[in-house]
Amino acid sequence: MTFRTPRIAPSEITPPEVFFNRRTLLAGALAAGASSLLPAAETAPSGAKLQYTRNAQYSVSEAPNKYEEITGYNNYYEFGTDKEDPKANSGSFRPTPWSVAVGGEAGVKGTFTLEDILKPHPLEERIYRFRCVEAWSMVIPWVGFPLSALIERFKPTAKAKYVEFTTLYDPHRMPGQRERVLAWPYVEGLRMDEAMHPLALMVVGLYGQTLPNQDGAPLRLIVPWKYGFKSIKAIVKINFTEKQPNTTWNLSAPQEYGFYANVNPQVDHPRWSQATERHIGAAFLAARRPTLPFNGYAEQVAGLYKGMDLRRYY
Ligand code: MTE
Repeated sequence: MTFRTPRIAPSEITPPEVFFNRRTLLAGALAAGASSLLPAAETAPSGAKLQYTRNAQYSVSEAPNKYEEITGYNNYYEFGTDKEDPKANSGSFRPTPWSVAVGGEAGVKGTFTLEDILKPHPLEERIYRFRCVEAWSMVIPWVGFPLSALIERFKPTAKAKYVEFTTLYDPHRMPGQRERVLAWPYVEGLRMDEAMHPLALMVVGLYGQTLPNQDGAPLRLIVPWKYGFKSIKAIVKINFTEKQPNTTWNLSAPQEYGFYANVNPQVDHPRWSQATERHIGAAFLAARRPTLPFNGYAEQVAGLYKGMDLRRYY
């Protein structure tokens, strides 16, 4: 089976400035005509309020992107391949009830409700940099808890070298899955030491409220030193494996998307440079920024890859 070449070259997408100017203009026109027509979700966070504490140690000091930017410019192929599709097409998706199946090389296995999964974990807000493989970036205030704390509960065996995550497969609820743009369901994976790193976060919220559907409700992963495609959304399965698991984008285009996918300005994507990025929401001249090794988290994570050739293990 062959897949269509992924349509994600930066040259093919609407530049973020144009995208947001168009939306601002549209909102302005609407507001001028009839302000009551403006949906509240355009301007204010929606969803249920979460209780959390702010984790300053693991937060960057840069200003977060606007809620509208984080929830209106998404990659979530289960709801379409364009940046505005996830918001437009995920409104009726119901992320409850939800359960997560845990299996493989673990002492504790089974199917857990979302409530079971969340219960023991105090929530934290962490402001992380986010870098997409398409060379755009944002700063995002996530709410979640360390993936390591969740993994410890399942008592992985000595054979567990990797952890594999799977997104819900339900073409009725996720219309993008009716198109063969990717091999569904979306799968991702981490080496066990990456998964146990304190920066790896299980995320349930954004801007203090439960995740909107387009950002991966009700449960997603965030690995801030890796390209965004590692940060899998709507997780229904966690599997501990001895062998390196398949990952969706690696299956789709192995020469373009590796298993590791660490942000690396020195290793270009075969079709574009990774040396710089366009920061969403920044003024035109300030938008283009140098990309930092490991997305600015080198001090914390570079040790995980000591001795590895990062050109080979991209
Ligand atoms: N997870 C699933 N299930 N499906 C997807 O298409 N896209 C990935 C990642 N997780 C994707 C996914 C990509 S390419 C990116 S850049 C991020 O989600 C985008 O996350 P955001 O929309 O919250 O910014």
